Amino acid sequence: MSSPVEEIKKRVDIVDLIGSYIRLSKAGANFKAVCPFHNEKTPSFYVSPSREIFHCFGCNAGGDVFRFVSMMEGVEFPEALSILAERAGVVLRREDPRLSGERRKLLNLILDATKYFESGLAKSGAAMDYLRTRGLKDETIKNFRLGFIPDGWDNLLNYLTQKGYKAEEVGKAGFAISSSNPNSRTKYYDRFRSRIMFPIADSSGRIVGFSGRIFNKETNEGKYINTPNTVLYDKSKILYLWDRAKNDVRKENSCVVVEGQMDALMSHQAGITNTVATSGTALGFAHTLLIKRLASKLLLAFDNDTAGETASKRAYELALDSGFEVNVIEVPEGKDPAETLALDPELWVGAIKNAKPIIAFFLDNLGKKFGGDMHKIRTEARTAVLPYVARFSSEIEKAHWVQETAKILQLKEEPLWEEIKKISASGRAGDSQAKEVKFVDVALKTRRHLVEERILGMLVWKTGTSFGVEANLKDLFSKENSTMLEAVLAGKSDFEAALSKFALEAELLYGDADDMAGEVKSLVSELERETVRAKLESLAEEIRKTEAAGEGAKLAEYLNEFQETSRKLNYLWQEANLKK
Ligand code: UTP
Ligand code: MN
Repeated sequence: MSSPVEEIKKRVDIVDLIGSYIRLSKAGANFKAVCPFHNEKTPSFYVSPSREIFHCFGCNAGGDVFRFVSMMEGVEFPEALSILAERAGVVLRREDPRLSGERRKLLNLILDATKYFESGLAKSGAAMDYLRTRGLKDETIKNFRLGFIPDGWDNLLNYLTQKGYKAEEVGKAGFAISSSNPNSRTKYYDRFRSRIMFPIADSSGRIVGFSGRIFNKETNEGKYINTPNTVLYDKSKILYLWDRAKNDVRKENSCVVVEGQMDALMSHQAGITNTVATSGTALGFAHTLLIKRLASKLLLAFDNDTAGETASKRAYELALDSGFEVNVIEVPEGKDPAETLALDPELWVGAIKNAKPIIAFFLDNLGKKFGGDMHKIRTEARTAVLPYVARFSSEIEKAHWVQETAKILQLKEEPLWEEIKKISASGRAGDSQAKEVKFVDVALKTRRHLVEERILGMLVWKTGTSFGVEANLKDLFSKENSTMLEAVLAGKSDFEAALSKFALEAELLYGDADDMAGEVKSLVSELERETVRAKLESLAEEIRKTEAAGEGAKLAEYLNEFQETSRKLNYLWQEANLKK
C-alpha cells in the first residue's frame, strides 16, 4: 500500500492544481506564470509536470503540490495534506495530530454550525419564502448552503455546547460575543440572532465565516453583520463565492465584482459564475492580489446609490493601480444587481456584455450629466476623468484614452497631456500600495555554487547521457555540493527535491541548445576556473596570515604556490577565450 502522500501525488495533477490558483501558460514541456509569491511583472515561476514540482527563479520558492498549497493557503503541511486529500478523494485514515488542533476544531465547529443554520432555514417557512421572493431558487439555496438562525441569545451556543464545544470556542469561531456584564450568568451570547446566514468559504471551499442578514426583526445593528476576524477568517483577504468562482475567473480571464451577498448569489444563479462579492468591507488590495493571480480583467458593478458611488471611486483607483483592465457594469434596473436579476436575469447578462472600459464609462457619464454644455464637461473631466487616465501604467493605454477624451471634449491632445503630467507629478505615484515590491534574494550564491548546480541539473536532466567530464567533477566540486554529486553519479535518488529543481533550471536554460555536450564542457571549464580562483583566494588569505606571523619558510612556499596557481588561472582564461 502506498502512503496517502504518494497516493495524493499520483492523483493530483500539479498543472491542474496550480492552474486552479494562477494563470499558467505553456513554455515548452513546462508551464510558466507570474510568481504568486513575490511581486513581479515578467514570469519567473515554472511548473514542471514531469518532475511534479514548481519553482520560482525570482524568489526561490519551490516544491511539490503540498508545498504549493501550504504556501498559497498559508497553512502548515498537515493541513495542506488534508486539503489535497479531499481534492484527490483520498481518505486519510487518522487525522494527523500535527494539524493545528485549534484550526481543525474551529473548522469542525463551523461545519456543525452550518448544518444547524441549514436545518433552521428548513424549519422556517417565512425565511424560506423571503428568499424565494428575492428570486433565489430552492436549488440555489441548498447548493450555497444558506441558513437561518431564529431570534434568541443562545440558540447556537446551546446547540454547540451540547455537542461538546466550549463556549469559548464558539467565541473564537466568531459566533458568540463575550458579555461584559458582570452580573450576567452566561459569559457568552450569540452574535447572530434572527438572521439569514450566508456561509463564506476560503479559496479551497472550507467554510470559515458567515454574513448574516437581519430577518423579521427590528434592530440597531447593521442589516448585515459578519464574522469578525478570527484565526480562520480575515475579511480583507476573503471574497464571497471566490471558491466557486475562481475556476471560471481563470478560464475567462475576468472577474465580476459586486457589492453584496444577494448580488453574487443571484449572478451565479443566472450563470455568471465568475462573480464574487466583498463581505462587509470595501474591495481592498489583498482582494485584488487574489484576483490578479487568475485574471487580468475586472468587471465592477456598484449599487445605484450614493454609498455605491464612494465605494466605487476607491475601487476604481485600486483596480487601475493593480494593473487590471477595468470595466464598469451599469446596473440597468433597480438599486443593485440582485434587484435587476430578480426582475430578469437577461438584463444582467446584457449589462455584463455591455460593460464599458472605465474611461469610456466616465466620458459617457459626463455627456449624460451635462448634455451639450461643453464648458461644464471640460471642467468636470479635469477632476472626474483625467486622474484615472493618469493611473494607467501602460503608456499605450494612456495614449488611447487621452485621444478618446480629447475627441469628447473637442480639444487637442496637448492640453490633456499637460494636465496628466501635472496630476502624475503631484505625487500620486507614491500613494499606491500596488507598487512593485523590490525583491531581495536572500540566498545569494557564489558563482561557483551556481555553476555546480547547473552541471548537476544537466546530469539529472540528461540521465543516461555521458558527457565525458564526469570523472573530473569530483576534484572540482566544492565541499558543499560534493555529496550531491556523488549521489547523482551513483544514480541514487537522494536530494530529489533540490536536484529536480536544478534539472528544471537546466532544461529551461539549455532546452534549445544544439550542442549539449559542448554546453556541459564549457560549464565544467568555468567551474575549473572558479575552483582555481577559490584556491587563489584561500592562498592569499594564508599568505596574509603567515606574513603577519613572520613564518618565512612557509611564506615562500605559499608565494610559490600562489604564482603557479595564478599562472594556471591565466592559462585557463586564455583557453576559454580561444574557444570563443
Ligand atoms: P447593501 O446595503 O447594498 O445590501 O449592502 P443590500 O444588497 O441592499 O441587501 P439586501 O439586498 O437587502 O439583502 C451590500 C453588502 O454590504 C455588506 C453586506 O455584505 C451586503 O451584502 N453590508 C451591508 C454589511 O456588511 N453591513 C451592513 O450593515 C450592510
Ligand atoms: Mn445592494
